[in-house]
Amino acid sequence: MLGQHRGMTDQRVRAELRQRVYGTKDLGQLDVFGGGFINFGYWRDLPVDGEISLETRVASQRALYGLVLDELAVGGGDRVLEVGCGHGVGTRLALGRDAALVRGVDLAPEQVERARAGGDHDRLEFRQGDAAALPFADDAFDALLSVEAAQHFEDPRGFAAEAFRVLAPGGRLALAAFLAHGPDRTAELSGLLRTYADGLDLAHDVDAVAAHLADAGFERVAVRSIGEHVWPAFDRWLEQLGDREPWERNWIAANERGLLDYHLITANVPGEAGSQE
Ligand SMILES: C[S@@+](CC[C@H](N)C(=O)[O-])C[C@H]1O[C@@H](n2cnc3c(N)ncnc32)[C@H](O)[C@@H]1O
Repeated sequence: MLGQHRGMTDQRVRAELRQRVYGTKDLGQLDVFGGGFINFGYWRDLPVDGEISLETRVASQRALYGLVLDELAVGGGDRVLEVGCGHGVGTRLALGRDAALVRGVDLAPEQVERARAGGDHDRLEFRQGDAAALPFADDAFDALLSVEAAQHFEDPRGFAAEAFRVLAPGGRLALAAFLAHGPDRTAELSGLLRTYADGLDLAHDVDAVAAHLADAGFERVAVRSIGEHVWPAFDRWLEQLGDREPWERNWIAANERGLLDYHLITANVPGEAGSQE
């Protein structure tokens, strides 16, 4: 009972921290990010040998979205949802893929305001909501993406169930995030990285996240490591930032010790697109 109470208190403390970091503080303003994105980036094919320019850093974050949108094969007529959309800069990229309708949802109301401030578009809308209680009707989307947000979800099982509910038959999911290797990595990761110690990031086991998707009803759940195109270049970017680096430069150490990796998870809702099974 005491343990359960403690867990709920911790959860409230973490929720307040996340609200501060993404809400009032706007993590996206830190030099570590840029361009309105808030992710570590996908650096494959980008020049990282010499000095890394801000332009390249922004391109790396855009490329992470490119990877996910390619994986989803977003195209003509798709109804697309991003969960954990942040400033919505990446969400907007789906418009350029000819999506019929694009929605972004984020837990922090301030993020939703920032996303809306990016400009109106008749096919685009941003809403406040939790990944585990999505404010959308059943079967409302054909493709769902989530970029570097799942490490924050308090209820990844609830997210899996909600993603399945809002996707129509034949719907596709692609999720990019850094997730743990193994069920109980919190202590080890907390020793290396402040964001785990303070509870901003949660050490969700990648296999458990994949299992939640399968349990929810998804088929063809596939997990792929993309860490080789994330960690070395992101670490170089942190090195270059020097004193402006907000965390310890230990992401690469955590990866090398087998504690976590950057993953791309894809999954499909059974059925034919356009059918109502
Ligand atoms: C690291 S940022 C990524 C933003 C954006 N996807 C990008 O790559 O630029 C994570 C975002 O997830 C949001 N978030 C955290 N927990 C969430 C939840 N349970 N439901 C919806 N959004 C959440 C945060 O408010 C934040 O905007």
